[in-house]
Amino acid sequence: MNNAPIGIFDSGIGGITIFKSIQKLLPKENIIYFSDNLNSPYGNKNKKEIQILSLKNSEWLLNKGCKIIVVACNTATTNCISMLRKSFKTPFIGVEPAIKPAATNTRTGNIGVLATKGTLNSNLFEITSNDYCSKINIIEKNGDGLVDMIENGILNGTEIEKLLLKFLSPMIKSNIDHLVLGCTHYPLINDSIEKILPNNVKILESGEAVAKQTKKIIIDKNLVGNNKNPTYNFYCNGGDNSLKKILTNNFKINTI
Ligand code: DGL
Repeated sequence: MNNAPIGIFDSGIGGITIFKSIQKLLPKENIIYFSDNLNSPYGNKNKKEIQILSLKNSEWLLNKGCKIIVVACNTATTNCISMLRKSFKTPFIGVEPAIKPAATNTRTGNIGVLATKGTLNSNLFEITSNDYCSKINIIEKNGDGLVDMIENGILNGTEIEKLLLKFLSPMIKSNIDHLVLGCTHYPLINDSIEKILPNNVKILESGEAVAKQTKKIIIDKNLVGNNKNPTYNFYCNGGDNSLKKILTNNFKINTI
């Protein structure tokens, strides 16, 4: 047994979608969540900047005694997961756009991917798309501006729907039947996305897959915890407004 916490980081509240899946699948694990919202969004930063921030976040979580780190950010994963794995002995789990299930199950041969510029421009994204999508058409859109709105608590209403319409219209015109949410912030605006998409389009996100992979790794590495009353601690460095909006009152939020 190993009752040290699982560490999770993101550029803000997006990783909470991953936190919830992990908490559900691994209810006896302590968890520390770090929101680097001071430096949000990561999506328009260059690779070097994303690497520096991800290294810093990982070191911070490791100093808190985390036994495993979950990079709950597609932008950080696609730009630096291999660098992080090389830099530390601790196991790292990442999150990537769910292209494989979309490419495998599409009937129209057209899938949409909504992600940040940093994710869409990364080598890892290019490799995955080439691996699975040689015979299908991917319509990629950089959801520029969405993360800022979500961090500011705008999850529905005309402002965000107008922006979403701009990104989703070309995908709908191209007859997509799967939309991959390639940013952990986007499941938080699922209701607004559903309002715009036709009913036949399936929305895919990666939270459950990341939780399953985290469980597999902690079992393989003998790191399973058995906390009867697990603790969940949330930290942020750019103010706690965004975390407060999406977490219930019984969670402890610390500003640093
Ligand atoms: N939630 C992140 C992702 O999955 C980061 C978004 C951002 O900071 O731009 O890509």
